[in-house]
Amino acid sequence: MSGIKPDQAESQTAPVATSRKSHFRRFWWAYLLAFLVVATVVIVPSVLLVAVPKMAQQRLNGAKLTIDGIAVVNTHTDSLILAINSTIEADDSVHATVDAFEGTLYLADADPLLAFAQIEFPQTVAAAMQAVNISQEIQISDQSAFTAFSTALLTRGSIGVRVRGNTHIYIRGISRPYPVTFDKTVTLKGLNNFDGLSISDPSISARSATNNFNGTVHIPNPSVLILEIGNTTFTNYFNGEEVGRTYVNNLVLYPGNNTFFASADIEQLPIVNALTQEPFCELMGKLPFQLSGNDVVNNGQVLPYFRDALAASNQSITVDLSEAAMNLGIPAQCIESSGG
Ligand SMILES: *[C@@H]1O[C@H](CO)[C@@H](O)[C@H](O)[C@H]1NC(C)=O
Ligand SMILES: *[C@@H]1O[C@H](CO)[C@@H](O)[C@H](O)[C@H]1NC(C)=O
Ligand SMILES: *[C@@H]1O[C@H](CO)[C@@H](O)[C@H](O)[C@H]1NC(C)=O
Ligand SMILES: *[C@@H]1O[C@H](CO)[C@@H](O)[C@H](O)[C@H]1NC(C)=O
Ligand SMILES: *[C@@H]1O[C@H](CO)[C@@H](O)[C@H](O)[C@H]1NC(C)=O
Ligand SMILES: *[C@@H]1O[C@H](CO)[C@@H](O)[C@H](O)[C@H]1NC(C)=O
Repeated sequence: MSGIKPDQAESQTAPVATSRKSHFRRFWWAYLLAFLVVATVVIVPSVLLVAVPKMAQQRLNGAKLTIDGIAVVNTHTDSLILAINSTIEADDSVHATVDAFEGTLYLADADPLLAFAQIEFPQTVAAAMQAVNISQEIQISDQSAFTAFSTALLTRGSIGVRVRGNTHIYIRGISRPYPVTFDKTVTLKGLNNFDGLSISDPSISARSATNNFNGTVHIPNPSVLILEIGNTTFTNYFNGEEVGRTYVNNLVLYPGNNTFFASADIEQLPIVNALTQEPFCELMGKLPFQLSGNDVVNNGQVLPYFRDALAASNQSITVDLSEAAMNLGIPAQCIESSGG
């Protein structure tokens, strides 16, 4: 019984298999056509929709963004001109064009990410190295975000700025554009809280309570930024006490060493005492002051984002008053008290 069943099965299935084979022989072209249709419908789009976009995004991710210079100029309360000279280096084995796009600038190490400006990036074409220079008027829609950026820039040794935006990439030979995300973080040198700030040729006058000090202030700017700050007022502290105001007009910082004329209103008594009495008289006239931003006005416009950034910390400065004091007949040394 059991030996018969397979035979029956074979005799039943054999004619079907034969007819399938002959059917394939006759209609092979239809199978080929169907295969080509399936290949076209499935494989080509999966290359165009999956592989090429992935490659396009990888190409953009592999590109290197270098910031050569940034200028923050024509500064107003609610607007400014932001100019950026940058270089994009890409692998030029793939010929591609990246569409113009709106990039958002973020302070990278803020938590959560803090967007402080938006800029329009121009279209870029495939090139091993391309200069991308931008100059745009920026509306400061979020004062606190821009202040946070300015504060980080002025007080830190380095800051991370992230540029992010959605755009399209066109690859030569393929007509459709592919959506990609431009997302790069660059590290910029900051002004490091004006480390290295100094004053030379200080001059003191004993005649008046205001405008009784001046000197040449040297402000190092290790960053690649040009900052148009304007007329700046600082509060001066000595030994933890407020002792006056310092004024620097037309403060514009360029990369490198910057020199300005500074004038000040300084309370005389605490300074004369420090020059001649313990413990500060031991410093022989080299007195440590602290400066903190108090006001910034540029061509009649208050700039809260620079004022508050300068007010966020104290900048230390040692002023050698020995010569200036000597000229007034005040010796910058400890005067023996009558009892000693
Ligand atoms: C960009 O480069 C040009 C040409 O060298 C220069 O004049 C300009 O000041 C630079 N701008 C910035 C923001 O560095
Ligand atoms: C762009 O800026 C670079 C400096 O980073 C400068 O050498 C170049 O001349 C500038 N190009 C234009 C068109 O301003
Ligand atoms: C300020 O500097 C000028 C020189 O530029 C000098 O003649 C003047 O006496 C100084 N004034 C004070 C108050 O020290
Ligand atoms: C700067 O120093 C003075 C005097 O020590 C102090 O009162 C003030 O709070 C300090 N400012 C900042 C922003 O730390
Ligand atoms: C900045 O200039 C002043 C005066 O010319 C000089 O004493 C100081 O060393 C300079 N600083 C730097 C970093 O070049
Ligand atoms: C700074 O103040 C002086 C004197 O008040 C004024 O003449 C000058 O225009 C001001 N500069 C700026 C950039 O605001």
